[in-house]
Formats: sequence, structure tokens, C-alpha cells
Amino acid sequence: PKLEELPLAMEKTFQIVAQHTCSWSKGMLMLYNYQGFWNIEDFHDGAILAQQSFKAQPSDVYICSHPKTGTTWLKALAFAVVTREKFNESTSPLLTTVPHECVPYLEKDLEQIEENHKNSSFPLVSTHLPYAYLPKSIIASNCKIVYIHRNIKDVIVSYYCCLCKLLNIPVEDAPFEMAFDEFCQGISWCGPYWDHILGYWKASRERPDRILFLKYEDMKRDTTSNVKRLAEFFGHPFSIEEEQAGVIQNIIKLCSFENLSNLEVNKSGKHRPETCTPVENRIYFRKAKDGDWKNYFTDEMIEKIDKLIDEKLSGTGLDL
Ligand code: A3P
Repeated sequence: PKLEELPLAMEKTFQIVAQHTCSWSKGMLMLYNYQGFWNIEDFHDGAILAQQSFKAQPSDVYICSHPKTGTTWLKALAFAVVTREKFNESTSPLLTTVPHECVPYLEKDLEQIEENHKNSSFPLVSTHLPYAYLPKSIIASNCKIVYIHRNIKDVIVSYYCCLCKLLNIPVEDAPFEMAFDEFCQGISWCGPYWDHILGYWKASRERPDRILFLKYEDMKRDTTSNVKRLAEFFGHPFSIEEEQAGVIQNIIKLCSFENLSNLEVNKSGKHRPETCTPVENRIYFRKAKDGDWKNYFTDEMIEKIDKLIDEKLSGTGLDL
């Protein structure tokens, strides 16, 4: 559908936005378009509130990502790196708390972030907002940003599987081809995906000292180097003594998919259990395999997405 043809909704935040019900979701997934990008209701109100009122502090570090690109893993690693002098692999809150609670979301946990600003030196905040929609104070305060992106084909499959579970739609009732087509039209949570990546990519080229641009697949291939990069970027590199004591390897093991996904809290716990939109923590952990898209894509889909990405990203130096 064309944006101008969609119904308009007057929001609680008094913004007028276009809304779209995703056809593949049996009417369960409603997306809101605000200033050109799509959001789910649960994050939309908080995003606008943050844009209007959030005051960043220069020492904040933002963990930024499009959904389903490795946010949970990056949050866990960043948390473990930042808190390594306070906790180790047997005392870390990551053993009993889902990584999303360890690092608050700008769109959902403003109170917790403001509390951290007042009472602790904990610097991490996460967000799915595109670069252009970050609250102005984040850019004005020259805050550090870590961005993670992932192969678009695996993102589409991860997104589809996650939303089916979140919305409780049996996959048999949610045609993957339709979800794929909407994603390719840019109509998806935080879509268009290519615009999300390009915003951070361009910013990282302009301000490489403030924006660290990571790729999920590279992090899996060489986790050690990337965890070291994270610590250096945070301004607190690992010392030789820490390296010799195995601190880096312990962090990697603690945050590994195998470890986190098998913890009781992530098998049976819930994120924000007290709210009307609790999420079962196990939804954040599926397969964590590169190339699962091969089990979902037809030859036609492969051709379509490759062409699309070529069109959107050619000449940018980015490889998805
Ligand atoms: P799959 O759906 O392909 O399995 P996000 O955290 O941004 O929602 O991304 C979710 C993806 O990251 C899921 O991919 C999930 O399985 C994977 N993931 C979760 N925890 C991980 C970890 N500790 N290490 C690597 N991948 C992880």
C-alpha cells in the first residue's frame, strides 16, 4: 500500500500517524508510520516520548539495532564488559535476568534510565530507533553508539518467527511469502531495514570514533576480537592481566547462545511480567544459526531480495 492511502490514527501522544495492519498476521500485527519509519504500538508511544523529552548524558553509550539482528547478544556482551569489575561469570545478573532487563530500552524503560542517570554510573541504554529519529540530545551530547546489523535474509526469517510467537499466530496461518513481501516493501517493525542500516552506516563513516558498526556474522566468526573492540570503544580495554586470567573468554562463554538460552530465567521467565505485554524470554532465543533462511526462501525470493539490496545499497560500501 501507498503511505498516503493508509488510514490515519490520532495517537495518545497527539501525533497523527498512518497505520497498517499486516495482511500476513491475520490482523494481529498493527504497524504505525511516524516520519517514514514503522513501529509497533508497544514501542511507538515511548519512541515519541523519548524524542520529545529525553535528555542524554555525554557518558551514555547506546546499543542500537534493528529488531532481530543480535540485540540480545550484544546487550549481554556489552553488559558483561562494562560490569566486569563488579561481577564475574558466577555472579553476573545475566545468570538470573534476561539481557533486555540488564540494559534498558529507551522506548520502554525511560524511568529506569533516568534513575541510572541519577544514581549510578551505568552507561548502557538500548534502542531500535533509526539514527535519524534518535532524540536530539544523544547526538548533541556526542554519545557513543554501538550498532549491530545482520544478513537481511536471516533477519526476515528471525523477524517472522519471532512475531508469530509474540502474537501467538500458528505459522500455518501466517504465510511466510506475505511477510516477506511486506518486509521487501519496507513495511516491518523498524523498517525499511536498509534505511535503518544506512542511517547508522553513514553516521559511523562520519564519526568513526563515536559510532562502532558491527555485524552479527563477523561477531560470531571472531567473537574475541569484537569483544576486545567493544571494551576499547567503551574506553576500558582489557588489561594483559585480564587477558591472561581468561576474562574475555569467560565473558564470551557467559553470553553464548548455548549458555544464555539454557538458563532457567531464559527458558521459563518473562520480560516485564507486570505489564499488559509481557514477553516470554525464550522468544529472544531461537536458533542463532547463520543461513536458516535457506529453509524458507524460494529461488524467486532469493532473486527478489538480492536485486532489492543491490538497488538500495550499491555504492555504499556495505555488504549484507
Ligand atoms: P534467530 O531467530 O535466527 O535464531 P534480537 O536479539 O535482535 O532480537 O535477535 C534475535 C536473534 O539473535 C535470534 O536469531 C536469536 O536466536 C539470536 N540470539 C539470541 N541470543 C544470542 C546469543 N547469545 N548469541 C548469538 N545469537 C543470539
